Amino acid sequence: MCGIVGIVGREAVAQRLYDGLKRLEYRGYDSAGICTVQGGEFERRRAEGKLDNLARQLAAEALHGDVGIAHTRWATHGAPTVDNAHPHIAGPVALVHNGIIENFKPLRDELIADGRKFLSETDSEVVAHLVAREVENGKSPTEAVATVLPRLHGAFAIAFLFKDHPDQIIGARMGAPLTVGYGEGENYLGSDALALAPLTQKIAYLEEGDWAVVKRDSIQIYDRANKPVNREIVESGALATRIEKGNYRHFMQKEIFEQPIVVAQTLQSYVRPFEGKVALPDFDFDLSTVNRVTIVACGTSFYAGMVAKYWFEQFARVPVDIDVASEFRYRQPVLEPGGLALFISQSGETADTLAALRHAREEGQTIAVVVNVPTSSMAREADLLLPTHAGPEIGVASTKAFTCQLSVLAALAANLARAKGRLTEDEEREIVEHLREAPEAMNQALNHDEDIAGMAHLVAPARDVLYLGRGPDYPMALEGALKLKEISYIHAEGYAAGEMKHGPIALIDDLVPVIVLAPSGPLFEKTVSNMQEVRARGGKIILISDAKGLAEAGEGCVATIEMPEVHPLIAPLVYAVPVQLLAYHVAVAKGTDVDQPRNLAKSVTVE
Ligand code: F6R
Repeated sequence: MCGIVGIVGREAVAQRLYDGLKRLEYRGYDSAGICTVQGGEFERRRAEGKLDNLARQLAAEALHGDVGIAHTRWATHGAPTVDNAHPHIAGPVALVHNGIIENFKPLRDELIADGRKFLSETDSEVVAHLVAREVENGKSPTEAVATVLPRLHGAFAIAFLFKDHPDQIIGARMGAPLTVGYGEGENYLGSDALALAPLTQKIAYLEEGDWAVVKRDSIQIYDRANKPVNREIVESGALATRIEKGNYRHFMQKEIFEQPIVVAQTLQSYVRPFEGKVALPDFDFDLSTVNRVTIVACGTSFYAGMVAKYWFEQFARVPVDIDVASEFRYRQPVLEPGGLALFISQSGETADTLAALRHAREEGQTIAVVVNVPTSSMAREADLLLPTHAGPEIGVASTKAFTCQLSVLAALAANLARAKGRLTEDEEREIVEHLREAPEAMNQALNHDEDIAGMAHLVAPARDVLYLGRGPDYPMALEGALKLKEISYIHAEGYAAGEMKHGPIALIDDLVPVIVLAPSGPLFEKTVSNMQEVRARGGKIILISDAKGLAEAGEGCVATIEMPEVHPLIAPLVYAVPVQLLAYHVAVAKGTDVDQPRNLAKSVTVE
């Protein structure tokens, strides 16, 4: 992961580099650093932990220079200490790196045998030494970088700074994103368009294997064969303004409350209410030819995909295979040529999902992408682009992006069903009506915020928590458990309610809260039986259901949360709200860092 910014500027760069890092903090916040070159010397500040620590250092000891590189780190090789913080310096070369150098060990051994001294435990420092050795042997910066890049295995985006060539930064990418930005008398380099947005809207995305020499008045891009190439310069459209929390205590809380609006916003692109039709963006693809869908994603986006599997199979009767992206590529999936592969991602940069997407393309699949960041790699590589309109999601735990993904997937399920002749006009009109009811139903769910805050004490002291659900509420149980563990650090598991008796029931005692998601409906009685099994063993149940369900099964629960009665197609959107709120309030009660929980990053750009 990690975020990179570089400026070859006309004036002091430290503050602007810091501002760029602030916009990249979602990529990691284990440590941060900036290095400039000034009067033939490097100047560097580095700090452990959040960016505020770096800000304090910069305030105490100003950093000069109008050319510099900066980095915010998500630790892979080496603990999050100052010594392991980037930029790393080796003689005449400083660098910042995002990604993993997989062959760092033999390279490091070779360099040590050559007498070079390492000051960190990182894989990145190896690259600094490799390039430094070439420069010290008389190569120019471009020659040195061109010599070293083919020796690196793995995924990386790197920016190099040279002590004796203070007029340039060299950037290189392979498997991790890197963007160059064009300014007035100065030029830039950054992990994404968002980092560069306050500096410029004119950017070019480097392609795999590209590297670029960035100077004040020019940017020369080379491909992996070291041939000069032109990459299209585009308007980034990335928001230059900083997103604020407003009156909310945390971004996550704000984003939970934004859901009715952003879901409505997203649905506007996918339904035509007056015609009673679902609609997809224009693209040249006939959904009626789809005989199987392969869904691939990670984390919360994967759970959105799991919900979609229920919908695609139930409404369109199209079989669905679903994989977590980190498994997909390596299990050698059997993909029929001409199939549809669907990738779901908030960031559009998740390394595992992106690699899976490229694998599916090589296997002759048409690539559909549900993505929130319109400038992301996945958005650019999609054949069928299905954007969510959640707006920037800052809280590391995904909330509004998830419900927007569900909205798009519900509309896609209906489109597929229509294309497959499984939906009459009346049924389609009815689905459109239900989708339009979703934002209001989510508002009703949000009205329970205070009650849910009052339940936090039932969960906060627990060591383990179980979430149970059936049908599409099974992935919602998984999502509830993920939300809780990532922000409150409580161990939580989601289970298909009927599966509990096959093992997890052994965990149940009176210290284990069990959160049951069970809208009334055909599966309700079965879930109630599973609740009885929990209760018989002293488990404390919090039941999330509608009025009918609570009337039938609410008695004996330690708490209940009443949801509006909704169509099964929109139930997951509505039931997402209480599980998000519960995780949020438990985390607040425990005093964790809700928006930036430990060890996590918003965009996971390493495999
Ligand atoms: C959980 C969470 C992660 C992401 C996962 C995929 O709250 O945010 O599990 O869902 O890292 O990220 P995207 O959707 O950006 O591909």
